[in-house]
Amino acid sequence: MMVFLKLFLLSLLLCSSSIQETYQYDELKQGIGYGGKHGTTNVPKKGGSFASGSIKLGGLEVCQISKFKKVWATLEGGPDNAGATFYEPSSIPDGFFMLGSYAQPNNRPLFGWILGGKDIKNAHSRRTLKMPVDYTLVWSSETTNIKKEGNGYFWLPTPPDGYNAVGLIFTDSPNKPPLSKVRCVRSDLVEFCEQDAWIWGEDKTGNTSKINAYSSRPSINDTHGLGVPVGTFFIQVDGANKSLNPSCLKNAKYNLAYMPNATQIKTLVQTFSPRLYFHPDEPYFPSSVNWFFSKGALLYQKGNESNPVLIEPNGSNLPQGGIEDGAYWLDLPVNKSAQDEIKKGYLQSSVAYLHIKPMLGATFTDICIWIFYPFNGSARAKLRFINVGLGRLGEHVGDWEHVTLRVSNFNGELWRVYFSQHNKGTWVNAAELEFEGSKVVAYASLHGHAAYPKPGLVLQGDLKLGIGVRNDAAKGNIVMDTGLRYEIISAEYLGTVVEASWLNYSRKWGPKIEYDLEKELKAFEKLIPGHPNLAKILPYEVLGEDGPTGPKFKNNWSGDEFI
Ligand SMILES: *[C@@H]1O[C@H](CO)[C@@H](O)[C@H](O)[C@H]1NC(C)=O
Ligand SMILES: *[C@@H]1O[C@H](CO)[C@@H](O)[C@H](O)[C@H]1NC(C)=O
Ligand SMILES: *[C@@H]1O[C@H](CO)[C@@H](O)[C@H](O)[C@H]1NC(C)=O
Ligand SMILES: *[C@@H]1O[C@H](CO)[C@@H](O)[C@H](O)[C@H]1NC(C)=O
Ligand SMILES: *[C@@H]1O[C@H](CO)[C@@H](O)[C@H](O)[C@H]1NC(C)=O
Ligand SMILES: *[C@@H]1O[C@H](CO)[C@@H](O)[C@H](O)[C@H]1NC(C)=O
Ligand SMILES: *[C@@H]1O[C@H](CO)[C@@H](O)[C@H](O)[C@H]1NC(C)=O
Ligand SMILES: *[C@@H]1O[C@H](CO)[C@@H](O)[C@H](O)[C@H]1NC(C)=O
Ligand SMILES: *[C@@H]1O[C@H](CO)[C@@H](O)[C@H](O)[C@H]1NC(C)=O
Ligand SMILES: *[C@@H]1O[C@H](CO)[C@@H](O)[C@H](O)[C@H]1NC(C)=O
Repeated sequence: MMVFLKLFLLSLLLCSSSIQETYQYDELKQGIGYGGKHGTTNVPKKGGSFASGSIKLGGLEVCQISKFKKVWATLEGGPDNAGATFYEPSSIPDGFFMLGSYAQPNNRPLFGWILGGKDIKNAHSRRTLKMPVDYTLVWSSETTNIKKEGNGYFWLPTPPDGYNAVGLIFTDSPNKPPLSKVRCVRSDLVEFCEQDAWIWGEDKTGNTSKINAYSSRPSINDTHGLGVPVGTFFIQVDGANKSLNPSCLKNAKYNLAYMPNATQIKTLVQTFSPRLYFHPDEPYFPSSVNWFFSKGALLYQKGNESNPVLIEPNGSNLPQGGIEDGAYWLDLPVNKSAQDEIKKGYLQSSVAYLHIKPMLGATFTDICIWIFYPFNGSARAKLRFINVGLGRLGEHVGDWEHVTLRVSNFNGELWRVYFSQHNKGTWVNAAELEFEGSKVVAYASLHGHAAYPKPGLVLQGDLKLGIGVRNDAAKGNIVMDTGLRYEIISAEYLGTVVEASWLNYSRKWGPKIEYDLEKELKAFEKLIPGHPNLAKILPYEVLGEDGPTGPKFKNNWSGDEFI
């Protein structure tokens, strides 16, 4: 409630102090297709910076448009055989032009954006935007007998020399659209893109479709990448690319002026920071790293195992840098009752460790929220109709998990959230997330602490056989509000963050325990009719017994999230 009040006051102040700026911001926000309050915030902003409504990429100013009108729809084919809908912007802010159209599969609610562009070149340079000189009809639905609403026609703008088309245009009639409908972009402001998610094809697998539509993403996807997605898509007809490559824009000078400053980060964290729910049976909670160290965690050195040393509460005596070579590792104290205590963690000490970085050509901000658990409990398996604990399989000391918020630098809105699950994870759009107030709801799975957007059981294994490792998430009474105690552990672009000394510790946070996985699993095979080979069915990585490396040495600190 406090946060809401503060935000409300803040927005009142903003509205009265900078009317012109707020006007543009609000106009852009109106079209957001996910019902207003979720995923939105009011952050302090200044002209030309974070959340000011538009971003300048060289001589080109771009804005995010999320208000669409339907041009054409198919009722089958594509993901879940649900068809897809093809849109164009329904209103474009004054002075901006359409660069292409938007399309989305029908198996999820409408949620997306495309960029509009405005030429702001100086008097001495070539225009950054130009009308196409013609269009080519690359596909029409007249050639297919899938279920559809009328017919759709896909047009590829023919750019003038030195310019690129960055999006397709749709019409619902065979007549060529007017040349003034769209703009092409000067080639030095365009970057390579590649095929991303499948949007639509005539059949439900896409393999035998004559036409397939895909969204696009920058080919270089790390934090230093310059590619800015336009939100448009490209199509392949008869297996050949008939359009658009490259098709992203480019933050050519790697301008970071639109990233949030420290005050704005605070507002973002207070607004969106996930409320992480634990399973009602969870015995192993998070703690701060400093609590773990001060409770007697030990640093071991290879070849000197009989002389482990206590770790300084601030981690200052951990070896720095280097690579994970097995030369050092951490472990629990030797005393059994101290072990039992430290394994439980201490929620009241827990801290959300934030790594903040620019993504997608610095048009988005990733806030990676890292959480430390002293202990990861054993795995449990579902073997048809019975559930069994897998003994010590899956147990390890030290467990690093994370959830990432991806926020638009155009308007400060939450676009999507990444949930890490056993070295991989999933992205979920803001429109499909659970919220409490403005805060994202996340669930930590029992023992393993993988992050999930909803409660329930996720099996990893052979779903047809009904055999797999269980990930159980449920809304217990215990919750971690990651906005309550947080520390920014790294934000290279701010230049002011002093990295903690444990961050550069590159070795494992727990010992490696050697055991024969197949042998351990044999005992459980006897329990199941047919005695299936569990070592083949249960993915090795979900039975991992190794201590993990720290956040900086995981997939993927400087790159995009692993899916
Ligand atoms: C961040 O930007 C806002 C808006 O311009 C400003 O009010 C605030 O003082 C800035 N904070 C920092 C730490 O620079
Ligand atoms: C089409 O373009 C995509 C993305 O650049 C590329 O991965 C693919 O190999 C291309 N296909 C053909 C047939 O050229
Ligand atoms: C289509 O391709 C996907 C991925 O390569 C594959 O899993 C699927 O079985 C294929 N479907 C058909 C009908 O070939
Ligand atoms: C990012 O780029 C790497 C290297 O090209 C690629 O392997 C990976 O799949 C990409 N990840 C995403 C999420 O786009
Ligand atoms: C073994 O560890 C102890 C305690 O840190 C240290 O004093 C000693 O020098 C180490 N021995 C070797 C051979 O590294
Ligand atoms: C860490 O703590 C030790 C004392 O335990 C102190 O001497 C040292 O200065 C601290 N280092 C940092 C980087 O705070
Ligand atoms: C073991 O740890 C417990 C709890 O931390 C402590 O009370 C006890 O004194 C310790 N025992 C020994 C032998 O160090
Ligand atoms: C950690 O390593 C990075 C790069 O290797 C360096 O810039 C940074 O200063 C180091 N941090 C500490 C606390 O030593
Ligand atoms: C504990 O963590 C490891 C690796 O992170 C995982 O493989 C194991 O299955 C986890 N335990 C549970 C119950 O998920
Ligand atoms: C992380 O991503 C970067 C950039 O995409 C890539 O160069 C690097 O290989 C990735 N690291 C790992 C461990 O996959």
